[in-house]
Amino acid sequence: MRRKMVAGNWKMHGTGASVDELTKSLKVIDFPVNIDVAVFPPSLYIGKVVEALRGTPVAVGAQNVARQPEQGALTGEIASSQLVDAGCTLVLVGHSERRQVLGESDGELCLKFAAAQQAGLVPVLCIGETLQQREAGETLAVVGQQLTSIIDALGIEVLKQAVIAYEPVWAIGTGLTATPEQAQEVHAAIRAQLAARNAEVAQGARLLYGGSVKAANAADLFSMPDIDGGLIGGASLNADEFGAICRAAGN
Ligand code: PGA
Repeated sequence: MRRKMVAGNWKMHGTGASVDELTKSLKVIDFPVNIDVAVFPPSLYIGKVVEALRGTPVAVGAQNVARQPEQGALTGEIASSQLVDAGCTLVLVGHSERRQVLGESDGELCLKFAAAQQAGLVPVLCIGETLQQREAGETLAVVGQQLTSIIDALGIEVLKQAVIAYEPVWAIGTGLTATPEQAQEVHAAIRAQLAARNAEVAQGARLLYGGSVKAANAADLFSMPDIDGGLIGGASLNADEFGAICRAAGN
């Protein structure tokens, strides 16, 4: 049985004060013991969140990482080794906002994925199609290619110590959630793609769904056989809602 995971991506939201409020509320939540929970605060607040959540089951991750693991002359970037030093254990790689708005390429994401693992961080690789691609019937091809670029560059084995998040771009922040059946279809295809290379990796890989997950739809999504939890954006900024989503994953 794969252990489910619920991760909250706080994106570019919050102030020092609101982050304090949120962590205060998270601290008193009784998270199910049979799932993994993580939050991804803006990097500016990582230290504060690590401190506040120390002693809780909530892991802390970063939303982005530099393409080279070691420190050096790369203004504005944060090295994976620095994220580890700050207390992070995970990092998002390839979120669609970074692919689409900031133009991150598959090649660049391979470097970031490798840099993360080199420092001991677990990469959460985000993949997903746009609405236009879905309507053109290209969903599985697009998602397959995003995954292939990592496998071809780094090998299938790297996915043993990673998490994959399927996030249809059209469902992110739009209130439009993929139906459990739509999400399951893509998750099954991802697992089949992994299985074609390595059955053990496919069996163990945790595949999260992301895109307008909330307490009201989480249980149905998480009940699908290949959905191993969720990557939560907007709803993760509300501790009660996030807690309810975690409970749905624990059931
Ligand atoms: P959302 O974001 O839950 O607000 O749709 C999900 C994500 O971008 O990870």
